[in-house]
This record gives sequence, structure tokens and C-alpha cells, in this order.
Amino acid sequence: MNQVEMKQAVARAAIEFVPQGIVGVGTGSTANFFIDELAKIKGRFDGAVASSEASAQRLRGHGIEVLDLNTVGQMDVYIDGADEITRHLHMIKGGGGALTREKIVAACSRQFVCLADQSKLVDVLGRFPLPIEVIPMARGYVARQLVKLGGQPQLREGFVTDNGNIILDVLGLSILNPVELEGILNQIVGVVTNGLFAQRPADILLLGKESGVEVLRAI
Ligand code: 5RP
Repeated sequence: MNQVEMKQAVARAAIEFVPQGIVGVGTGSTANFFIDELAKIKGRFDGAVASSEASAQRLRGHGIEVLDLNTVGQMDVYIDGADEITRHLHMIKGGGGALTREKIVAACSRQFVCLADQSKLVDVLGRFPLPIEVIPMARGYVARQLVKLGGQPQLREGFVTDNGNIILDVLGLSILNPVELEGILNQIVGVVTNGLFAQRPADILLLGKESGVEVLRAI
């Protein structure tokens, strides 16, 4: 299997985790494959909460009802991809810029099922630049604080999040303790969310490998 086939394979495997009620749906190319799989079973669940406008549009395009999270409350499961993931199921997310809504929908879900091809599995997070969503007027201040922490922030040019904010992509941070760093970054005034998903990690990883889909739980 190549990378695209691995993403399609994990998207198919995720269907068994879809509840009868409402499913939380992530963002990105792997999530898009999952949405396409959901379309095939759309009579078997009630609807979806989307983590981005792009995913909402794709879901609606398939005739799947998209619900407002505030009318739904708690969900059984959230299914999404990741940019990097460790065997502790800590992740970097936000390559598609949807990290804030992803973190909100994940927080409202009892179970987080992550879909990833084998290139995403790492021993230590941080080769992928860490996305941080920032209130536009705080861009300079937040960037200076990130430099003090050892990071090299780069503005994601020409990109505005669904929430009207900017993204700083940060290389160079030491992410040996992702749970702690997630909290530290969230303390910087002007940061909306950072792309570390460690305080609320995934519960299950469906990992696409050349040999098939492996199911991993946190070690
Ligand atoms: C979007 C995300 C995605 O889950 C992440 O970027 C992975 O994307 P892809 O499935 O396209 O590799 O966090 O904000």
C-alpha cells in the first residue's frame, strides 16, 4: 500500500467505531477519506459535528446532517487524522489549520480515534512544525515568547483560520514532555490553541501500514 491507500484503509477501518448517534469528524485528507466512507453508511447514524467549515461542506455534500456542537453536547466518538503521533498517542495536529475546533470537538467526545499512515508515527514529537493559532494583534508578542522558549515561529502566509485568526508554525521546541509544554504554550496571552494534543491524547490509533491496519492503544 502507498500512503494514499493507507489513509483510505484506516478510513474504512474507522467505520466500525461510528456510533448510532452523532459522530465527531476531523479535518484533512485522511478525514476526507473517512467522510467518504461515512457517506456509504449514512442511514446508520444520526449526523455529524464537524471540526472545520471544509469538513462540514464535504459532509453536507454527501447529504449527511451537520449539527451545531452546542445542540449536541457530549458525543461517543471523535475521528480525525494527525500530523505526528507517538506510542503514547500524543499528537501534533493543525497542519490543516483546524486545531482549535478539533480540540473542542475532541474535548466533547468520550473516545478519540486517530487515523494515521505509518509515516506519522514518531518517537518524539516536533519534526513537524507545531501549529499555534494566535489572535492577529498578538502575533509579534506571541512570536517573541516562543523564541524565548527556543522556538522558531513562522507565520503561515495567506492563511486565516475558521475563527478569523492566524497560525504560527513553530520549529525547534523541545517536546520531550508534551503534556507540560501544551499547558505552557496555552498560558501565553494571545494564544488561542496550540497543536499539541497530549493532555487529551487519542484513545485508539488506527495505523495504516504496508501490511494492513494495526490497532494501537496508548502504552
Ligand atoms: C488538520 C489536522 C489534520 O488531522 C492533520 O493535518 C493531518 O492531515 P492529513 O490527514 O491530510 O495528513 O490536524 O488541522
